[in-house]
Amino acid sequence: MAGTRIPLTRDAPGELDGWPDDLSLAAAHPGETRHALVARTLRDAVTAGRLPEGTRLPGHRRLAQRLGVSRNTLVDALTQLHAEGYVRPRGRSGTVISVPALRGPARVDAPPLPLSAWAVRALQGQVQEAGGDTFAVDFRVGQPVPDLYPEAAWTQALARRAAQVTHAHAHDPLGPVETRRALAAYLSAERGARVTPDMVMLTGGTQSALDALARVFLEPGRLVAAENPTYAGARAALAATGAEVTGVPVDAEGLRTDDLPARATLVYVTPGCQYPTAVSLSAARRQALIAWATGVNAFILEDDYAADLHLTSRPPPVLQGLAPDRVILLGSFSKSLAPVTRSGFLVAPPDVLRVLTGTRPLTDRLPGRLDALALADVLGSGAYARHLRRARGVVAHRQETLVAELRAALPDWTVTPVASGLHLYLPLPAPWTEEAVLTSAAAQGVALSPVSPLAAGGHVPAVLLGFAGLPLDLLRDGARRLGAALQAG
Ligand SMILES: Cc1ncc(COP(=O)(O)O)c(C=O)c1O
Repeated sequence: MAGTRIPLTRDAPGELDGWPDDLSLAAAHPGETRHALVARTLRDAVTAGRLPEGTRLPGHRRLAQRLGVSRNTLVDALTQLHAEGYVRPRGRSGTVISVPALRGPARVDAPPLPLSAWAVRALQGQVQEAGGDTFAVDFRVGQPVPDLYPEAAWTQALARRAAQVTHAHAHDPLGPVETRRALAAYLSAERGARVTPDMVMLTGGTQSALDALARVFLEPGRLVAAENPTYAGARAALAATGAEVTGVPVDAEGLRTDDLPARATLVYVTPGCQYPTAVSLSAARRQALIAWATGVNAFILEDDYAADLHLTSRPPPVLQGLAPDRVILLGSFSKSLAPVTRSGFLVAPPDVLRVLTGTRPLTDRLPGRLDALALADVLGSGAYARHLRRARGVVAHRQETLVAELRAALPDWTVTPVASGLHLYLPLPAPWTEEAVLTSAAAQGVALSPVSPLAAGGHVPAVLLGFAGLPLDLLRDGARRLGAALQAG
């Protein structure tokens, strides 16, 4: 017990008058000692204004009785509160409360939080995550695909690295150099990137990279272009800066480069596998996009989210390999390694990376070292690539099964398999509307994802079917249910 033990005070007649009738011992927390519980009960009463400053506590025998504890326990508690400054002894005449209440009476009309314009815009653009109701077959996108995760290699690498952790001060805002080396080698070999380890920064996933880049390049009055439809999380991060986000349509060749605006600071694209339509950007459009960006001095944010999710053929090499001084490549392991790690990276030209190195200490300072070192191991040992080769076979078989079943169940619909990614993009035949499809499917116990929330202020007559994590029997059942729901039109 800290401090001098508080002296016992005698009881005086009538002294419980005015003492709050309902002030009784709070419920104990697990492991909480009796005197700590008494101290907390009295401390909370003081901060809540129930025992105002200057209140004289009743004599110790009476108060102990009232609280249902021994006198010793009460004195221990008061000694603790004395050390903390909540009470002070006043000779043999008692103990008094010595601090004012922390909170006034509860306000009914609490004023609104003084939010920044960024917070208001960020909350307006908030992305709805799939969840809520349960369905017999849930095709909504964004759900985990555990088959993809090289769990054994990952947990072994983590355990090995955890055992070696030193507390040496490692302070590289880009991330450990051995991880950047492993990433640079992987990206050169697998994605045709032109990258050296000093061009790589580890991130907490693509979303955090987008946020960091949006904040250093955008502000109200600036323009940023993005594919339309596009990944809602990207559009929201860009729009939260107050810059104007202009949507550029996509067709069977990907982004329609002729429709790019006359000026922009950034353009966000998914050339390997357009999100959500799954088309890949044609060679001619790649050239046109780079020429446009060079002409207007814009940076291209290349989100290579489907790099490791190819099913029927490899996505073309990254755009970054064609123009490393114009393109900032963004990648993530959240779909293919283990979503709990929040591991990602960006590859940027040196001047951009210098800016990010300078601004990062203000936000998350540096990436977590343990995950980063384990990532270096699973990439460097080849375990990641080996596991993915096998896992992609499983997911590709799921897609084949679903496509065959859907074609049989819905002969009037166009069902096209995707070369990369985890979902099918299903255009709606006339006269179906998105809402009617979602409602009819739900009535048969099937959940689908709408495309409209991904479109800038518009309606896209298509739905998404996330198939990658579902076992074959559910895929067959889902296709049959969709047949029953949608065939009639
Ligand atoms: C196209 C696209 N880009 C980026 C992300 C986000 O990646 P991360 O989880 O690394 O933030 C997602 C997540 O679903 C995505 O679909």
